[in-house]
Amino acid sequence: MEFEKVVTERHSTRVFLDKPVSRETIENVLFLSARAPSAINLQPWEFTVVMGEERHRLSRVLVKSMRERNISCGPGAVRPLPEHFMDRQRKLMDCILPHLEKGTPFQDFINEGSCNFYGAPVAIIATIDQAFSKSRLVDVGIAVGYMVLAAHNMGLGTCPIGLISAFDEEIREMLNISEEKDVVMGVGVGYPDADSPINLASSDRAPLQEVVRFY
Ligand SMILES: Cc1cc2nc3c(=O)[nH]c(=O)nc-3n(C[C@H](O)[C@H](O)[C@H](O)COP(=O)(O)O)c2cc1C
Repeated sequence: MEFEKVVTERHSTRVFLDKPVSRETIENVLFLSARAPSAINLQPWEFTVVMGEERHRLSRVLVKSMRERNISCGPGAVRPLPEHFMDRQRKLMDCILPHLEKGTPFQDFINEGSCNFYGAPVAIIATIDQAFSKSRLVDVGIAVGYMVLAAHNMGLGTCPIGLISAFDEEIREMLNISEEKDVVMGVGVGYPDADSPINLASSDRAPLQEVVRFY
């Protein structure tokens, strides 16, 4: 697929088909993801792929913990955010909310959905060794960016899930991940339900002049 088409077409998938993804396909996605640049070529990312019944077991643990601890998706900001950021968040809600079953609160859909990887058959958990500084999270983010584009190019849908980093202990325990690794984020991967209006709802972007300055 043409690069520009991949970039402009890709959007987060929040309804997946009940159709497995082969290990070979996931390996292809991860191979391309790992072509991402990284500082001094450290490649600090590590990925744990969770499929089949294990994916469901992981989600049961996450949903239980999310409910018990009352964890919710949010910007995770350290100070109140200026209004234009809040406006972007509201716009995301506006494009999903009309397609939810009547009475489903948006926040419940996002929180439960995120812990369930929106029903994706595969969850990829990105971790990083705690020996790295926080700056290296950038490298992991770039690799995840490559991942979602590579997956889209292969006809797969993805949803990055930052919420799960709140459950790092549970995830480490269930997936046998060393205490010395931090859970950065997850990505749900699977075949998108092309007919779902939730998947058709595409978020927009701020105009360039809002985010770019030329000198
Ligand atoms: C770091 C990161 C964390 C995210 N976490 C979540 C999440 O926990 N739950 C969710 O539903 N979407 C999550 N998303 C998806 C964003 O909501 C989505 O990328 C954004 O609204 C732009 O929409 P698009 O991906 O359809 O272009 C996350 C995206 C990124 C990059």
